[in-house]
Amino acid sequence: MNILIIGAGGREHALAWKIRQSDLCDELFIAPGNAGTANCGINLSINSNDFEGLKQAALDNNIQLIVVGPEEPLVKGVVDYFISNPSTQHINIIGPDKFAAQLEGSKAFAKAFMSKYKIPTAAYQEFTVDNYEDGIAYINHHQLPIVLKADGLAAGKGVLICNSHEEALSEFKQMMLLSKFGDAGNKIVIEQYLEGIEMSVFVLTDGHDYLLLPEAKDYKRIGEGDSGLNTGGMGAVSPLSFFDEALKDKIIKTIVHPTIQGIQKEKFHYKGFVFIGLMINNGEPYVIEYNCRLGDPETEVVIPRIKNDFVEMLLAAATGKINSIKINTDPRAAVAIVAVSEGYPGPYNIEKKINGLNNNAVQESMFFHSGTAFKNNDIVTNGGRVLAVTAFGKDIKEAASISKEALQQIHFEGIYFRNDIGYEFY
Ligand code: AMP
Ligand code: GLY
Repeated sequence: MNILIIGAGGREHALAWKIRQSDLCDELFIAPGNAGTANCGINLSINSNDFEGLKQAALDNNIQLIVVGPEEPLVKGVVDYFISNPSTQHINIIGPDKFAAQLEGSKAFAKAFMSKYKIPTAAYQEFTVDNYEDGIAYINHHQLPIVLKADGLAAGKGVLICNSHEEALSEFKQMMLLSKFGDAGNKIVIEQYLEGIEMSVFVLTDGHDYLLLPEAKDYKRIGEGDSGLNTGGMGAVSPLSFFDEALKDKIIKTIVHPTIQGIQKEKFHYKGFVFIGLMINNGEPYVIEYNCRLGDPETEVVIPRIKNDFVEMLLAAATGKINSIKINTDPRAAVAIVAVSEGYPGPYNIEKKINGLNNNAVQESMFFHSGTAFKNNDIVTNGGRVLAVTAFGKDIKEAASISKEALQQIHFEGIYFRNDIGYEFY
């Protein structure tokens, strides 16, 4: 069958790489893709949010399966667009519809869902301009630190952890009255700060049952030792040694199972990935957030560890048969290290020529492109995160070391990456 992947990052390159390996895949298209996805299929220069353009491409190329990579088209209703249109109803599409995508698109929606299904999460209250004064009073009485979350999508910047009441009050005012995050901040969730170790679990659901995928941890800060500004993710590792049978059982029982039951009971149209961000506090898991898609760069370690035919898995999710799949996981460790442009996550330049991509001489390593493009006959940088180098090893330390060795082959002006990805597991 012909398959279309929507998106342009490292996650989509990893998806394309894996889908390309399936005998069930005839032609593969990526919209818009990047210089890396062009090695796996045909890039179509259509923006991920151009539903009309995507529909036309799907019809022109006889697409039978679509995988939506990023959250924005999901939250904007790309699944609804395809399933409500008579000409595209027959296409299997991986991702929740607009209503269900609120699990990621609205923090208040997600918190209400967790509360209804008794899923452990930080205590919270939500506020709008209508109860603005109550919000001020709530902050004044809240213990420190105080977590403020813009309700809507804010490109990963909508969560603020405030260490003083003054800071929290000032941020609350800027979000609510001065539209610091645009409409995303019209509603604000204020919640308890959770201490602990962060990790993520991923499931593929057909709306009734689910398949648990390998777990992962990402490294969000720009600097070594988890210092400096937040980024989209500087690296990821899988598996996690502390994710033992006892913790896994607890997470399944108290979080994954009730989440999928909630999706089923609410009759959500949800055939796709649920990415559950967790904080493990003294052995007890709490949900920090739901995402309605896979993570980036988590995908670059999760997907390589899956040995199954990925198209078979996706079709099972799309057709209500996810229970028929048994996951077969590579026992080796995988580490992805992300190389970024100089200046990221602040302003950075693009179109720097990238050398060394073509003949990867380091075994057990893979280059997944995030922000790359073609210019004349070269591959050039085209984003803050430029590429993720994933390597396998017998453990995280070895995989990280192989990833760094492979990274030595890559050159572009201003290249930066963290040398310490996975450090707690060494
Ligand atoms: P998000 O944008 O929802 O992924 O949140 C960004 C980051 O903020 C998370 O990865 C956590 O590190 C942190 N965070 C979010 N909520 C909390 C919380 N209640 N307590 C502590 N840290 C949090
Ligand atoms: N790496 C975090 C995310 O994809 O949201």
